[in-house]
Amino acid sequence: MAQLSIVSGSVGLITLQNPPVNALSAAVRQGIVDTVEKALSDPKVKSVVIRGQNGVFCGGADIKEFGTKMTGPHLIPMIHAIEAGNKPMVAAIEGSALGGGLELALGCHYRVAHSKARLGLPEVTLGLLPAAAGSQRLPRLIGVPAALNLITTGRHVTAAEALQLGIVDQVTDHDTVDTAVKFALNVAGQSLDARRISTFPCPRPAELDALFEDAMQKVRKSARGAIAPVACVQAVRAAATLPYAEGLERERELMATLFNSGQARALQYCFFAQRAVGRWSTPSGARWDTSKPVPVPKAAVIGLGTMGRGIAVALAQTGLSVVAVETQEKQMMEAKQAVSGMLERGAKRRGVAPVSDKISYSGNIRAVADVDLVIEAVFEDMAVKEKLFQQLSAICKPGALLCTNTSALDVDHLASQTRNPELVVGMHFFAPAHVMKLLEVVYGRRSSTQAVATAMQLGKKMGKVSVAVGNCRGFVGNRMLKPYIEQAFYLLEEGATPELVDRALEEFGFSMGVFRMSDLSGLDVGWRVRKGDGLVEPGLASGPSARVRQGRRYSPLGDLLCEQGRFGQKTGRGWYQYEKPGGRVARSDPWLHSFLEGYRARHGLVARRIDHEEVLERCLYALINEGFHILEDGIAAGPEDIDVIYVFGYGWPRHRGGPMFYAGMVGLAKVLERLEHYHQAHPDVPHLQPCSLLRRLVASGSPPIHKWREVIRKLHSHL
Ligand code: NAI
Repeated sequence: MAQLSIVSGSVGLITLQNPPVNALSAAVRQGIVDTVEKALSDPKVKSVVIRGQNGVFCGGADIKEFGTKMTGPHLIPMIHAIEAGNKPMVAAIEGSALGGGLELALGCHYRVAHSKARLGLPEVTLGLLPAAAGSQRLPRLIGVPAALNLITTGRHVTAAEALQLGIVDQVTDHDTVDTAVKFALNVAGQSLDARRISTFPCPRPAELDALFEDAMQKVRKSARGAIAPVACVQAVRAAATLPYAEGLERERELMATLFNSGQARALQYCFFAQRAVGRWSTPSGARWDTSKPVPVPKAAVIGLGTMGRGIAVALAQTGLSVVAVETQEKQMMEAKQAVSGMLERGAKRRGVAPVSDKISYSGNIRAVADVDLVIEAVFEDMAVKEKLFQQLSAICKPGALLCTNTSALDVDHLASQTRNPELVVGMHFFAPAHVMKLLEVVYGRRSSTQAVATAMQLGKKMGKVSVAVGNCRGFVGNRMLKPYIEQAFYLLEEGATPELVDRALEEFGFSMGVFRMSDLSGLDVGWRVRKGDGLVEPGLASGPSARVRQGRRYSPLGDLLCEQGRFGQKTGRGWYQYEKPGGRVARSDPWLHSFLEGYRARHGLVARRIDHEEVLERCLYALINEGFHILEDGIAAGPEDIDVIYVFGYGWPRHRGGPMFYAGMVGLAKVLERLEHYHQAHPDVPHLQPCSLLRRLVASGSPPIHKWREVIRKLHSHL
């Protein structure tokens, strides 16, 4: 797991061996302890280089060991032994030095990095802090402000930035190990007194208190309830204000708190869930590892509205040739301008040339004749899409994949409009499509394995987190959103305000509450869908039937706002008011409050006090309950798929792991009990009736989330 050899006569070369990233498993730590001891005691060895096998220095702790009983040597004394050694130790950093990997390098006396290497302390993204003295050494090496930035965000830096910050001593374009060995030969025999970072005084900037105050406010604002970034600030503060040993003790205490918090577990679950969704399968037996995607060098996007523009940009940035089709001349002009702006900004951010020449525009659908894959993003109107799929089926070359970006419409029905329904899948992007990481790949009843595999592969190439889901109204994300929004409307009827509901959800950790989100995306979108479903009945101002549709409770509040032209930000009025149409800053609107009072009076509803707990339970448990239905129906293969969709597409706070993980944390029995309670209080709301899968899970002793699939499998085998 770590090997020592002697090179250039007097340099001990320690090689970490734990593919793929030389994670610091118990065996690797033991290997380091043994080889360092050997090198220090071998009189032939005058200096030491530590490197990782296969071009990667070290990816950090072995995350598989989290949550298991600690065995093998501890990292902190291991790194101290390296630092305290009386022979120069040089870290040869290729590939990456992340987390514990960088902490190991900080224990060395010198660091040489390849120009393509990346360095960072990403522990915060797993709900932890760099607790192998990283939070104490880094500020001593590069100063408090820079260390705060790296440790609280977990961002990776390039070798060039690392050199500029003072993390590394030399950057090379040549062979890193050769360079490090030469470096080690040069420094052999030199005093190490000024090279042991733990002995450095931490630079104390003027206005220390104000600096930390500021940093704390900043992380509290962006952390949305996550505790790790806050603990990171506290740990760096300890480095700046306490002697090293005491700072280390503080680091240990803070880490213990984080380690035992539900948040670290949630974030680590997210880390594994994101990988798990890549190993997709469908009920028809298609699997990630047995299906072969087809190459897609050329694609088309049809409809250059909000979504089509972002999709075209994302495809071009992935290196595909893109044909962009739009029939409305005005839209086409606006789209061209918007797309080139997005491409330019993207290129600037990534330091590359814009790829505008990758996109060709056409007003004629025939331009898609030679592409390998089409993504349509035309209006959400079944008749329009039906016609388009008939056309595409006739125009496209044999084997071309036909994909729809529909938010909720029936993919099987669209497939039935084509000659080759096996070539039809949903590729459901999220706005803005060139930014948002989530992609739902919707397989229909007849979608071929190859079609699903190709869409998944393309999503991956585009840098998306792609999740394969079954076909149903709204797929996974939007289907679960419906009961969530519905509860928010009911809460308004019962006495809440948009401000109260949003505050509760934002304090929970959502980036935006349901009403602010609705103002942003436009109230008219849902209105159009409800109209299409025959739910909107203008003129039904009062009377018992005004709040009932198809035998269920219905809230016409959203429809009433739309009838007033209140579509949200775009019209300057919605659930809130904005300084002008298109304004972004939501302010309370007294009109809305008196409108709600009038509405309640008209319907004989008596407002009651509603607290945050009820808002969270009603909105979140209704959403979670739908998640259980989705699992029961086999629309999502497992709870990880749902959680990844919510974390990456719907602003669910990552430190709460996603809705299904959260249900497990709260306790499935409690979720069931509260749903029963609310369903009893609101028997006309079917979404509050607990799903039978939830009951079954509780009856089988509320197994941990990784065991749910077994219960679901049993359920399916009984059906
Ligand atoms: P949009 O109204 O902004 O754009 C639709 C565009 O399609 C318009 O420019 C229109 O002129 C064009 N178009 C209509 N018929 C056409 C045809 N036959 N050939 C070529 N162009 C045609 O709509 P938006 O918001 O971009 O939505 C498009 C699709 O994406 C819908 O199915 C929607 O449900 C879905 N979607 C929308 C999201 C959003 O946040 N807006 C998110 C995810 C999916």
